[in-house]
Amino acid sequence: MEHPRYITVEVPAKINLQLAVGPVREDGYHEVVTVYLAVSIVDRVRASTADAVTVEVVGPQADRVPADGSNLAVRAARLLAERAGVSYGARLWIDKRIPVAGGMAGGSADAAAALIACNHLWDLGLGKDELVEIGAELGSDVPFSLLGGAAVGTGRGERLRPLDAERVFTWVLVPADGGLATPAVYAECDRIREETGVVPAPPRADEDLIAALAKGDAHALGRALANDLEPAALRLNPSLARTLATGRELGALGGLVSGSGPTCVFLAEDSHHGAALSEAFTAAGHPAIHARGPVHGPVVIDDGRYPGDDRWFGSMALADSLGER
Ligand code: C5P
Repeated sequence: MEHPRYITVEVPAKINLQLAVGPVREDGYHEVVTVYLAVSIVDRVRASTADAVTVEVVGPQADRVPADGSNLAVRAARLLAERAGVSYGARLWIDKRIPVAGGMAGGSADAAAALIACNHLWDLGLGKDELVEIGAELGSDVPFSLLGGAAVGTGRGERLRPLDAERVFTWVLVPADGGLATPAVYAECDRIREETGVVPAPPRADEDLIAALAKGDAHALGRALANDLEPAALRLNPSLARTLATGRELGALGGLVSGSGPTCVFLAEDSHHGAALSEAFTAAGHPAIHARGPVHGPVVIDDGRYPGDDRWFGSMALADSLGER
């Protein structure tokens, strides 16, 4: 079979519905229990045949993403080649739509997509489990970015148990100006705990939240949303308190900072309510994105074998099939 010349993968962002942060481990990471949900905001990553691994990033936030060896997608492709014992290259191209440094695993999503794309491009034939293992070395959220749907993450977030979700919920996402660096937010969380004398307990999954997700009970889910990193994110970006208060005033079923922030996430009753919330947020000076989740994980949307090649690029997008954006 002839090798494809390029592969394009579409990969969703994640939000955290619960993030329980426990004590710091010996390796410097925090023990966490988190409920991940994949949502319908996607990046697209294309890998095409080349001698070396390089990256180009396009989109309105492109200048906020490194286009060198520190890019997580480049690191993913290089680690994959190393683990597979090959010396192939790939020209990576990222259409960046997921908010950068926003607590939505945008970098992890690109790394996951790069692993899948290069696995195909180089005909390595690695299975999902092997990619997940490589992904875990690249970042705590990369395994979930490979999986999609809904899952509980334990350890540093990389050990996953898929969850049932009875329905697709409507979410309103409010990105903030500027990003927050994950290590800085965890460090701030530690500082707050030190100042207040809080000794963190081993983190536990919130069974009420998991049951609400399984039953499709939006009201119960809204009440259960919780993030231990939220006080730290609020201290580093005090304007988020106003965003969260606006969500409460506008009648969101629940709201929280996603992951290490600063993106704030609000749950709507249904898509009608979600559209009204998005409009109200935008009118209140907080431009908002309407999304749905859970959605499935990364998909190959173009394997470069279609006639006319570029004519097909992007025509089968996950986002289009979901009727979003
Ligand atoms: O795993 P990842 O590279 O995404 O983590 C980025 C940083 O976030 C880590 O270096 C660490 O400072 C912090 N972190 C943590 N505990 C976790 C996950 C991340 O302290 N469970």
